[in-house]
Amino acid sequence: MRIAGWNLLTNSTATDRALRTLRESVAGPIGGWNGQLVLCEKYLQLFSPGYTHKALYGGRGTAKTTTIALYIILRMDAAYTVVAGLRKRQVSIRHSSKRVLERAIRWLGLTHRFEVLHTEIRNRVTGSIAFFRGLEHDSDETTRGLDGVDIFWLDEARNVSMQALMNLVRVLRERGAELISSWNPLDPQDAIEQLYRGDVPPQHLLLLETTQDDNPAFFTSPMADEYWRLKAADEQMWQHVYGGKHDSAGGERVYDKIEIGEVPWQYLAGGEPCYGLDLGYVDDPTAAVRVWVLQQHKLIYFEKEAVGYGEDANGIADLLDHVLHEKDAVVTSDNSEQRTTDALNAKGYNLVTAKKGAGSVIEGIRFIRGYRIVVNPDCETVIEETKHYKWKLDRQSGKRTQVPRKGHDHCLDAGRYAIMGREASIEAGKVEMMQLSGF
Ligand SMILES: Nc1ncnc2c1ncn2[C@@H]1O[C@H](COP(=O)(O)OP(=O)(O)OP(=O)(O)O)[C@@H](O)[C@H]1O
Ligand SMILES: [Mg+2]
Repeated sequence: MRIAGWNLLTNSTATDRALRTLRESVAGPIGGWNGQLVLCEKYLQLFSPGYTHKALYGGRGTAKTTTIALYIILRMDAAYTVVAGLRKRQVSIRHSSKRVLERAIRWLGLTHRFEVLHTEIRNRVTGSIAFFRGLEHDSDETTRGLDGVDIFWLDEARNVSMQALMNLVRVLRERGAELISSWNPLDPQDAIEQLYRGDVPPQHLLLLETTQDDNPAFFTSPMADEYWRLKAADEQMWQHVYGGKHDSAGGERVYDKIEIGEVPWQYLAGGEPCYGLDLGYVDDPTAAVRVWVLQQHKLIYFEKEAVGYGEDANGIADLLDHVLHEKDAVVTSDNSEQRTTDALNAKGYNLVTAKKGAGSVIEGIRFIRGYRIVVNPDCETVIEETKHYKWKLDRQSGKRTQVPRKGHDHCLDAGRYAIMGREASIEAGKVEMMQLSGF
């Protein structure tokens, strides 16, 4: 079968050229394998023609994103190809897959053949173009403007809705292009799992399960430290995060009573929201949230979230802009990255450090659990995290401990920082208690 967009790469000269570039390229230090760019055999299947769907799933750091980016750049360089880099949401261009493609261009030593514009990447020789888009900002927009696309690339596809996936599949059928997705498995009920690992997967599907052995750089990089640490600390969580298994841990949820809905503005009027930021470590996401603590109603309201991956200070600034009403509002943040915090404060933000240390996590959780917790339906990450944020079980007795499992807690941690930061400033007499007369 011949698929549009593949024609020139199936031409053996173009394929050979692409693979030769890949095998021979030594584009300076590329963080890994003695400066050599290597791909494992498994990933070379990405270059095989005849697939409409290419679906890669596996644990953290298994080179899914990087390898797809290398493949896409080589396709763009081999022949005219239009690429749509898609994500569930794209707060700004910095949160797109563009940076990964830029890095792939450098690694392949192809800088002279590509032009990196603000929102696009072009190949000077073949005329190929890559642009970037969030899928779920507005359902009407989902597939508009995607005509003529040869490669749809859906990174971090795990929580994309079935509706958005089906819209894409429809465009694929019409156009005969290819859809490459990658994700870290969490829940077998997720739409992407249903589509590719369900009972009736689509035809012409390349389904690859990836492991850290498929990443030549993994075990020699700092990523491995956390891999071994988590393996020792929480085997079950490790199986999920690094082993790529579904998160099947039993146990009780830390926040077991969550209501999803919008709190009427009358409840919020006259009050002050509080803001929290959880900075990502290496490949972890960074999360910013806007939360309300409504004392009179004993209610905590998660109103807005913004989540990004592998952010620099500019990317984090975009996340903050997304949730902040005023730029200089106090944001309580973890103190894992003093340099990033300083860089953001120099830009005019007002980050203060959350109280950390033994007891602060459980103290925050107890406080929050004392409230009715309502989450705006737009805060999808918060909602999802509450499903997976559970108490650790004691290894011997199997009983619930007082320690939550690390892993799916980025927005929840940001929320906890925000709420406890607010409490601390109330105690210090800096903030007036919110008055809600009439409710
Ligand atoms: N072929 C390679 N050569 C050298 N380094 C690599 C290679 N592939 C990946 N890496 C390095 O490994 C890191 C992790 O890879 P990548 O982000 O592609 O994995 P992933 O499977 O997408 O991870 P996640 O599950 O976090 O999305 C990258 O930041 C990159 O530095
Ligand atoms: Mg990835």
